[in-house]
Formats: sequence, structure tokens, C-alpha cells
Amino acid sequence: MDMYRYQDLNNYMLDKLIDYINTSNEDKHWDEDEESIFKLFFEMTEGSYSLLDAGCGDGRLIGKYKDHFKEITVLERDKSNAKKIINLINYFNIKEKVKLQLGKIQDLEENKKFDVIICSHVLQHISITDCEDVVKKFSRIVKPKGLLFILVSHSETPRDIFTKISRNKDKIKEKEITVDEFNYLTEVCGEVPVRKFTKESIQNLAEKYDFQTLKYGVYHMINRERPFNKTNPNKMENTPRLVALDSYLIAQRL
Ligand SMILES: C[S@@+](CC[C@H](N)C(=O)[O-])C[C@H]1O[C@@H](n2cnc3c(N)ncnc32)[C@H](O)[C@@H]1O
Repeated sequence: MDMYRYQDLNNYMLDKLIDYINTSNEDKHWDEDEESIFKLFFEMTEGSYSLLDAGCGDGRLIGKYKDHFKEITVLERDKSNAKKIINLINYFNIKEKVKLQLGKIQDLEENKKFDVIICSHVLQHISITDCEDVVKKFSRIVKPKGLLFILVSHSETPRDIFTKISRNKDKIKEKEITVDEFNYLTEVCGEVPVRKFTKESIQNLAEKYDFQTLKYGVYHMINRERPFNKTNPNKMENTPRLVALDSYLIAQRL
């Protein structure tokens, strides 16, 4: 039996990060940033019938998309989320059109095809091999010309970055780690492994499995202090710069 638990228990570290973003951002807030991307997503999927929310967590996004699709499947690997998801489905009174499935994306049957798939902040927490298998699965279960909407952590450097986020009393800290440690942490409970994707890396992954990029963008911007540059004294000033934490990709199956 799969005993997997998503590492960020009760979304403790996510809530800390949201607080941080909201306080570093004077006029923009976490939810509003996401809202504008969903607006674009709904415009592009208007009239679509079926949706798969792959790795839906506690069902956080159900309230956003519930009125935009006629048939919705929410899929989640961590079974401890089931109760919260069922409560939400009952709360919104949408039992007729929403189906909850517990298990791994990779194990989905391939006879059912979807018009649209959302995969929000899942790929960044799974091993490199699982990530390939998951996108390969999407390519097999989305209809021709169907859309895939991916949200992931963003790397502003020229390469993907692998980190772990851990909790120390009421503080959280993030540390860069090797790919091997990242892969290991994705299957154990404890620190949260995070892969930050460059634009090229997430686009290449989708394109490898027959998706074509329609839209790409970065969001959740914060002002972060530029670290002192020891080797170049001219760059010693500690000026803040705008950093994007997340990115989105909307791609179409060829
Ligand atoms: C960061 S949470 C994101 C939840 C939700 N999509 C959101 O945006 O709020 C990642 C979720 O993906 C789930 N997950 C991880 N690997 C999975 C897999 N292979 N199949 C299905 N769900 C998975 C985890 O259990 C966790 O609930």
C-alpha cells in the first residue's frame, strides 16, 4: 500500500512563504497574482467539458474552477487529504460533477481522456524520473488539442535548482542540495524537496511529450536583497531586485 505523505504537513511552510510574499509586496498579494493567471487560463479553456486536477492537495483550487467545467476529476496521492476534499465537494454541492480519485498520476487508467489538465505545484516536489512519467501520462490522457496547465517553482539562474525547505521551531530555511538528495527526499516524510525549473527546462519537458507551448510567464514576484559580490567591489551595493518565485505554462497537445 502507498503510505506517501506530502512533506509540507498542514501546509505549514507554504503558509509561511505566503506571509513572506504578502509582506514583501506592497501592492500585490499571493492570491491576486494567481487570480490573474487563472483568468487567462479560463479564457483559453472556455467551452471545455472535462478537467483533471492532477495532485489536487487539499482541493484548494476546486472553488476557482468548479463553475468552468461540466465534469471534474480531482486526483491526489496523499490519502490524508481525502476528508478535506470531500468536505469541500459537499460544501460547494457539486457531488454530481466531481469525482475524487486517490492514487498516483502515473497509475491513471488511459481509457478516460480529458479536455484540460491542471497540475499545480506538483512537478517541483517529485523525482526527476516521476516528473518524466507524469508528463508522459498527461500526453496519453489529454485529448488531441487538449490543454495542459502547469504551475511550478521558477529558477532565474540558467539551470534548474534543487533545494530542501526545513522547519526550525517557527522559522523556515531553504538550502540547495544535490539531485540525488532531492530524489531521495521526494519519497520520505520530513524536509520539503523543491525543484525550481528554468523556462527552457519546463518547456522542453512538455515539448518532449508532444505539447506545444501557448503561454509562459512568471509570477509571485518579491523584492530580494542582492547579495554582496566579494569578487567585484563595484557591485558591492546591496540593492533589492525583483525575483519571480513561480512560473506557469499553458501548452496544447499536438
Ligand atoms: C504543493 S501540493 C499542491 C496542491 C495543489 N495542486 C495546489 O496547488 O494547492 C503537491 C501535491 O501533489 C501531490 N502529489 C505528489 N506526487 C503525486 C503523484 N505522483 N500523484 C498525485 N499526486 C501527487 C502531493 O500529495 C501534494 O498534495
